[in-house]
Amino acid sequence: MSKLVFGNQKMYMNRESVIDFINNLKTLNNLENVVVFPSYLYLTDYSGVVNFGSQDVSNNENGAYTGEVSASQIKSTGAKYSLVGHSERRSYHKEDNNDFLLKINNLIKEDLIPVFCIGENETEYDNKETKKVLFDQITSVYNNLSINDIPKIIIAYEPVWAIGTGKTPNNEEISEVVSYIKELVNDRYNTSNIKVLYGGSVNNKNVDSLNEMDIVDGYLIGGSSSKIDEFKYIIERCL
Ligand code: 13P
Repeated sequence: MSKLVFGNQKMYMNRESVIDFINNLKTLNNLENVVVFPSYLYLTDYSGVVNFGSQDVSNNENGAYTGEVSASQIKSTGAKYSLVGHSERRSYHKEDNNDFLLKINNLIKEDLIPVFCIGENETEYDNKETKKVLFDQITSVYNNLSINDIPKIIIAYEPVWAIGTGKTPNNEEISEVVSYIKELVNDRYNTSNIKVLYGGSVNNKNVDSLNEMDIVDGYLIGGSSSKIDEFKYIIERCL
């Protein structure tokens, strides 16, 4: 049982805490399955320590876009991954499927691996619309991608109501949704082994129980990925 451990550090941490975090992370000798997504400012600090990626990318390739960061700039830091479509980008920045399509294409052009985040909100969960929502989120982007690029994308299933709340779906629910996503992508786009992560309130207390699910390839961890002791514990349990 080995799981991918992806840490989305959001806008937590400053330079001092990043340096401490990195020095502490270096004491682990197997970081093969770990990818850290720090603020753009600290991407290069992770160089040579662990695989890393950005939390977002511009939907433009280059030019007069103040405050934006392009896929080629991200690539130049040594990053290998980028998140796309995180629910916080969807809700606070009103990003939509057209943005995700452009971003994914820009990343793939630079050989960066997109981690495409999808998930239902609480009302949709209560109304048992999860699969319908995920179907729409996936197909409205994937139908417009080159078929050859679809296997390059990792999907992160993050129910919006589980993010930062301490609540998670139970294992049966997560397994059912993750297997739905895998079947949907494999059947519709002719792929065979796409990876799907679970995210939303993953921490040092529930990781062992989540690890009981074989179908889940790993986790996208928010809050606990900037707390070094919790993050290290999770990494060691996921080796
Ligand atoms: P939390 O782990 O803090 O719930 O955040 C999950 C998340 O949004 C990861 O992208």
